[in-house]
Amino acid sequence: MSTDAFSQRLSAVAEQVEAGLAAVLADASLPGEIARPKRLMEAMRYGALGGGKRLRPFLTIETARALGVVGDAPLRAGLAIECVHCYSLVHDDLPAMDDDDLRRGRPTTHKAFDEASAILAGDGLLTLAFDILADPATHMDAEIRVALCLGLARASGLGGMVGGQMLDIEAESAASPLDDSAIRRLQAMKTGALLRFAVEAGAIVAGAPAARRAALVKYGEALGSAFQVADDILDAEATSEQLGKRAGKDAERNKGTFVSIHGLDGAKRLRDAFVQQALAALDAAEFQAQGDILRQAARFVAARAK
Ligand code: IPE
Ligand code: IPE
Ligand code: MG
Ligand code: MG
Ligand code: MG
Repeated sequence: MSTDAFSQRLSAVAEQVEAGLAAVLADASLPGEIARPKRLMEAMRYGALGGGKRLRPFLTIETARALGVVGDAPLRAGLAIECVHCYSLVHDDLPAMDDDDLRRGRPTTHKAFDEASAILAGDGLLTLAFDILADPATHMDAEIRVALCLGLARASGLGGMVGGQMLDIEAESAASPLDDSAIRRLQAMKTGALLRFAVEAGAIVAGAPAARRAALVKYGEALGSAFQVADDILDAEATSEQLGKRAGKDAERNKGTFVSIHGLDGAKRLRDAFVQQALAALDAAEFQAQGDILRQAARFVAARAK
């Protein structure tokens, strides 16, 4: 598959995701809800709509497609994961966390609204993710819905993204710099876990056999590692205009990254090695041509300009 065809597919999925998110963030209340306050809706839409690569839902949708399944199940699973991702960005940018003013080329949610609204918008997006997954519209098989809820909780909570964010914040003021294995763990948690689960969710909705699912999890893990090293390299090398978020902030804030301990060249070698691991995982699971888009996704993660 050519890079052009890959970009077209990524944009097509991004459009589908945008429409899907707009629908779940509509004004009308769902059964069991009392009302959807206007300002909260606006802040949630601001944090979730109108930007982003939508890489996580892309991975869910394309993994399911590689396994022969298309439709609402992978789309809705991807929407739920994107809601968690958007919430994580809204909270990551708060003054008490990374204190950033720019995200996806616009003022961050707490700048466009206020801190309380941004905190609540994040909370709302997180809860909405589990609403989407538990809804029978996602899958008629309740066991699959439960597996999605459990997997997302484990990837995004205490032992996953939230835990990783804690380690990331602690590293800023650590007495001595984090070593390679501590950085690996931090990054596997704060970013890798959700990307890995984005792939695994595709395997869950497609009912993939255990061996294939395990190989896809390995692919997702390696892709997740490559993704965060690439994010750290871009933070050091790109401009804020290019990224749509402030560049150069990791060194300034003493973040524990591979760039901080291995330098840019070392980090690039590591990033490329992670991409190779991702490709090898697909080969091991004997994904032939149907795995091409996932192969391109692994390369895209390393080569992206934002
Ligand atoms: C940025 O994620 C935050 C990290 C996890 C490093 P993305 O680069 O996927 O952000 P968007 O969704 O495209 O804006
Ligand atoms: C953010 O990592 C990870 C999550 C939001 C969970 P970063 O702090 O490096 O992300 P950016 O660089 O602000 O997008
Ligand atoms: Mg951060
Ligand atoms: Mg940040
Ligand atoms: Mg970063």
